[in-house]
Amino acid sequence: MVEPILKWAGGKRQLLPEITGRFPVEFERYHEPFVGGGAVYFHLEPEGGSINDLNDRLVTLYEVIRDRDPEALIAENRSHEHDEEYYYDARDEFNELHELDDKTADERLREASLFVYLNRTCFNGLYRENNSGEFNVPVGRYANPDWVQADRIRALHDVLRDTAIHNGDFEYVREEASEGDLVYFDPPYEPVSTTADFTDYHAEGFDRDDQRRLRDLAVDLDAMGVSVVLSNSPPVAELYEDAEGFTVHVVEATRAINSDADNRGEVAEVLITNVPEARQRRTTLSTFE
Ligand SMILES: C[S@@+](CC[C@H](N)C(=O)[O-])C[C@H]1O[C@@H](n2cnc3c(N)ncnc32)[C@H](O)[C@@H]1O
Repeated sequence: MVEPILKWAGGKRQLLPEITGRFPVEFERYHEPFVGGGAVYFHLEPEGGSINDLNDRLVTLYEVIRDRDPEALIAENRSHEHDEEYYYDARDEFNELHELDDKTADERLREASLFVYLNRTCFNGLYRENNSGEFNVPVGRYANPDWVQADRIRALHDVLRDTAIHNGDFEYVREEASEGDLVYFDPPYEPVSTTADFTDYHAEGFDRDDQRRLRDLAVDLDAMGVSVVLSNSPPVAELYEDAEGFTVHVVEATRAINSDADNRGEVAEVLITNVPEARQRRTTLSTFE
């Protein structure tokens, strides 16, 4: 069981029992098209299968962890400094590297390392881009941040070994998944209030049409014999009312990342699945409804 390397909005650590309790007891390969910080993927440590995210810096990090000697990334991570001026220089370098078209292996390693450093030292562990796609989160105030993450990088290197890593839209999984596989979707949420804008992961956002596209894909995967589990915010549940074979469960979730401290706390979350109860693991569920 590996812990995530990054802090990531919408991270699923608190909900792991509720999510994995609805996974089927047996499945072939596991796919996670909105992998983000990867709490569920790392917890599961699946063999093979695929992960994907639209965020290309995140994908570069996972590819570097899979493809390079983990000790090279760990050594690069150890070179960073806990200093405000260093942070802003590192942020500039991170954004300059992002602009390069053809990166060398060492430039990709450096970009991956800067990402871990910035994520671990930035304000609230946020990921935010401006309209030009530049990472623009200010420095955070941490006494002792761990941006080396040595043990997790070594462990994740092994877990990722046979995993396909994609960088694009979630629809890729239509080609990648086949009968007997399991797909877990954790898309960006619709905002639950005006102060909690959880669609802010990427300059392009994720709107209702994307949620409908995702529902249509879930229905198609169901017809292919693929198990589907999906987490989302309550307003999305209505899209699944007419989706035959899918059930909706409401659970409470604590949002760890929120720039407004007063707005942290319990929020309802929905879990939608086509896995029949009799085939679910269920042992980790807090309630057996
Ligand atoms: C709720 S987060 C996933 C959090 C993850 N489960 C975790 O534990 O950290 C949603 C992710 O979807 C990505 N994303 C946004 N739009 C996407 C799209 N159209 N296709 C694939 N990924 C997308 C975002 O970059 C973000 O990392």
